[in-house]
Amino acid sequence: MNEIKGTTKLCGLIGNPVEHSISPLIHNTLANLCGLDMVYTTFRVEAGNVDCAVKGAHALNILGMNVTVPHKQEVIAALEDIDPIAQSIGAVNTLVRTAHGYKGYNTDILGLARELEEEGVSLADAEVVLLGAGGAARAIAFLCVEKGAKHVTILNRTVEKAQAIAQDVNAHFQTQTVEAQPIDAYKTFTQEGYIVLQTSSVGLYPNSDKTLIEDEVFYQKAAVGVDIIYNPAETKFMKLMKQQGKPAYNGLKMLLYQGVSAFELWNDVQVTAEQAQEVYTLMKKELGINEE
Ligand code: ATR
Repeated sequence: MNEIKGTTKLCGLIGNPVEHSISPLIHNTLANLCGLDMVYTTFRVEAGNVDCAVKGAHALNILGMNVTVPHKQEVIAALEDIDPIAQSIGAVNTLVRTAHGYKGYNTDILGLARELEEEGVSLADAEVVLLGAGGAARAIAFLCVEKGAKHVTILNRTVEKAQAIAQDVNAHFQTQTVEAQPIDAYKTFTQEGYIVLQTSSVGLYPNSDKTLIEDEVFYQKAAVGVDIIYNPAETKFMKLMKQQGKPAYNGLKMLLYQGVSAFELWNDVQVTAEQAQEVYTLMKKELGINEE
């Protein structure tokens, strides 16, 4: 347990609700493992109070903050500075203290990039299919193009939302890499060997038997799948991938590495692979995930 003293630095999570977040486990464990005098807790912040909360945190000498739903967009107006990729995504989940305020980052996306790297999934020159077009898909579409994907197809029930993301990402990178389509467009795909990134909320517990595309043909033509959902640990999407003999990963490492990346930014340290693994094991225990 972290001992709290007069010298102890404080970090925390703002959002609503925040009480059941796994972030305190991630950061307090990392602080212990790295021997840092820092503790992390949660702060429930109501809509409309974000600016006040961020300014107050700075005045209280709080080292860093995470930001979760529903404040990832609203918080941007309260920042002193912002990382360019977080700015283009339009969502911030990590605040790093600077002299006169906080600088905002998007470590959700850094977390996914680290998960993909660890699993050997390379976006460079890849054919990518994004399922869903919410806030997560938007961030992931930016990541795909930034990492050099050859072509990204966003499939979404509401095709206008996919179009808006495609337009923004293409305009930002001055390319035509991202394309928006209704979900059924997979039936006329000419592409094969694609990386599928499942970003929709379909399949999230307790709707664990649901997924956006059931048709095995879609999975036969895929190379690998990553679901950003981690509860359940094996989603229907992952099951369908595996039934076709394709590797599939859940979003737990993305969650781990968004935390690790934030912790590194706040404390100016490098978390080792062994330390990250230790946190990962504790996260699985906390979430009741038994497999490997
Ligand atoms: P975020 O928090 O990431 O912004 P969101 O806005 O809730 O998430 O969007 C989640 C995604 O899941 C969206 O792409 C949504 O599709 P729509 O844009 O058409 O709403 C998708 N989604 C959620 N429930 C769905 C359902 N029952 N069928 C199809 N898609 C669904």
